[in-house]
Amino acid sequence: MLQIGDEVVYFSAVFLLVVLGTRSATGASLLTAFLYVFMVMFRFPPVPGDQAGRVLRPRAPSGGVPVVAHRGGSHDAPENTLAAIREASRNGATGVELDLSFTADGVPVLMHDETVDRTTNGSGPVSKLQLVKLKRLDAAACHRLKDKFSGEKVPTLQEAVEECIRHQLTIFFNVKDQPDKAAAVLHEMYKKFPVLYNSSIVSSFEPKVIYKMRQTDPNVVTALIHRPWRLSRFGDGTSRSLSTSGQLWMGVLDVLLDWAHHHILWKLCGVSAIFMQKDFISLDYVQYWAERGVEVVGWTVNTAVEKHYYQNLLKIGYITDSLLEDCDPHY
Ligand SMILES: *[C@@H]1O[C@H](CO)[C@@H](O)[C@H](O)[C@H]1NC(C)=O
Ligand SMILES: *[C@@H]1O[C@H](CO)[C@@H](O)[C@H](O)[C@H]1NC(C)=O
Repeated sequence: MLQIGDEVVYFSAVFLLVVLGTRSATGASLLTAFLYVFMVMFRFPPVPGDQAGRVLRPRAPSGGVPVVAHRGGSHDAPENTLAAIREASRNGATGVELDLSFTADGVPVLMHDETVDRTTNGSGPVSKLQLVKLKRLDAAACHRLKDKFSGEKVPTLQEAVEECIRHQLTIFFNVKDQPDKAAAVLHEMYKKFPVLYNSSIVSSFEPKVIYKMRQTDPNVVTALIHRPWRLSRFGDGTSRSLSTSGQLWMGVLDVLLDWAHHHILWKLCGVSAIFMQKDFISLDYVQYWAERGVEVVGWTVNTAVEKHYYQNLLKIGYITDSLLEDCDPHY
């Protein structure tokens, strides 16, 4: 949806800033015109609204808002496993969020961290392990319910996709980096399982990942993940950097990044949704995006009180670690 109002404001602001900075009306006009042409030439139009709607507003069994199990539901089962996908389905999730990673031999698998240490009985980076070695690890080894889920393996991307399709779950692919590799692999997956165009979304904190995905396959539904102050602060609000100047600089970058997400990047990438950290979501915020044809999804919503708020007031989907009980937040 073209937001004429937005565009007039942004380009006027750019023009004014450049005029003030350079005292050259010609320079400012040229730069503004250049920016405008750049946006028009290089942005991807979003996928049609009805396609995005099938992904982002699937029929929830109880007529409720979409509920997506974070990493497959990391509180209820070992994260990013087939058992988690089955558990999420059994417990009434409409979808699962899954993390893409690559083994040393280039096989796409599900793993959130760079290393296997936190979730399995192995150690070292996933990217240094061959698939056969990775498959020998116990993916439930460190989970609170490890006895119930013992013997669970790290699944390949395709195994996970097939399991989700079997259970008619929406998939929220979370891609951290490696835009080229990820886009190629996901495109192949969409080709192999075309139902994914109607039942999955590719998301990332990195705009370049989403841009590459849309370049590779403009029919894929996409989302940007965002948390304000992500560069300077951890999710719980504590500072990342020890030096004051480093902290200040990251804070400035955070402000710019937040502005870019809300005014440029979403449009350039043509995303259908913004996955926003829950503490920054209000009714006004949801409305802001609704006016632009973009859905908001909150993460991670882990208490009954919050879920009630999403269900009854915000009326938007959310990502949660548990379908069953309250648990600690994840950032
Ligand atoms: C991890 O657990 C699996 C399953 O119990 C076992 O076969 C494997 O040898 C273990 N690997 C390591 C590195 O301990
Ligand atoms: C997606 O759903 C629409 C509406 O049901 C259908 O016409 C279309 O063929 C589906 N696309 C794929 C790739 O399954």
